[in-house]
Amino acid sequence: MIITVTLNAAIDRSLSVPSFRLGRRHRTVEQRTLAGGKGVNIARTLKTLGYPVIATGMAGGSTGMRIVEQLKSESILNDFVGIREESRTNTSVLDPANGEQTEINERGPLVSEAEVEAFAERLQYLARGAAIVVFAGSLPRGAPPDIYATMIRELQRMGVTTVIDTDGEPLRHAVRAEPDVVSPNVLEAEELVGREFGSDDEAAVSEIVALGAREAIMTQPNGCVALLLADGQPTLMRARLKPSESGASVGAGDAFLAGYVAARYEGSSPRECLRFGVACGAESTRRMGAGLVDPKEVRRLLAEVELNAAEPAEVS
Ligand SMILES: Nc1ncnc2c1ncn2[C@@H]1O[C@H](COP(=O)(O)OP(=O)(O)OP(=O)(O)O)[C@@H](O)[C@H]1O
Ligand SMILES: [Mg+2]
Repeated sequence: MIITVTLNAAIDRSLSVPSFRLGRRHRTVEQRTLAGGKGVNIARTLKTLGYPVIATGMAGGSTGMRIVEQLKSESILNDFVGIREESRTNTSVLDPANGEQTEINERGPLVSEAEVEAFAERLQYLARGAAIVVFAGSLPRGAPPDIYATMIRELQRMGVTTVIDTDGEPLRHAVRAEPDVVSPNVLEAEELVGREFGSDDEAAVSEIVALGAREAIMTQPNGCVALLLADGQPTLMRARLKPSESGASVGAGDAFLAGYVAARYEGSSPRECLRFGVACGAESTRRMGAGLVDPKEVRRLLAEVELNAAEPAEVS
């Protein structure tokens, strides 16, 4: 079983608005409402691809109830801890004319210490049946910034593989807890390491591993660069695919991570895991709504992903 953790679950509204301009009134040509938050998106992709997954996290109020109902309607197994305050609704506007996407995310609920504690217990229980736990997304207000780090340490002791995609302070703490895999995008990686990489993107993943992660993947719009263990050796790898021009790129990182985790769950080689991730990320950009992929199209795209040759990396 794979568990995805979404501490700040949401209802995501995606609106398609041609020629979107600030300060104007618009009509949508297409709209979609889905349960969201990064972990939920990842669970959706995993379920679509046919992998066993449970989405957990915290959700509250009528929006929280709607999140759970939406998941039920998609047959995504879920087990959320209820919180007193209302979960967020996030809105994204996609302009189909130029592919630009604008996101407005609500601040989200304030959670209490008791609620965080209740969640930690729920996760401990669920993780007993899990091979991989994926932590993804931002924290609700009130959650301690080292909450992911604490949970990662506990799961490591239980022998569960831990994967994390977040940013800022929670990421900084989490990396020090030595998670199995950290998967930031370029901006998140630069913020973590404290400098811009430019073309030296290989330094990014090496430095993230030096900070504590066992393996690191940095996603880029045209694929990813990663420092992964191949036969126990840290090995630099790249997977590339030409980016599509006007895609719904929000949530591409979630689809990437779902694909990577799916392949890893199946015991595929590190390179094949990256290949599958990149194909899922790319496929998701063709659909409005995060985490949606067509498995047939993913298989077709797989053949187009270029993988680089093996290079054992020097890690300082
Ligand atoms: N326009 C695009 N066309 C094809 N593939 C894309 C495109 N944008 C992203 N991808 C794929 O999706 C993966 C993740 O991309 P990216 O680094 O942009 O995610 P992200 O910024 O974490 O997104 P989010 O956090 O919103 O999910 C990459 O590995 C890339 O291969
Ligand atoms: Mg991301």
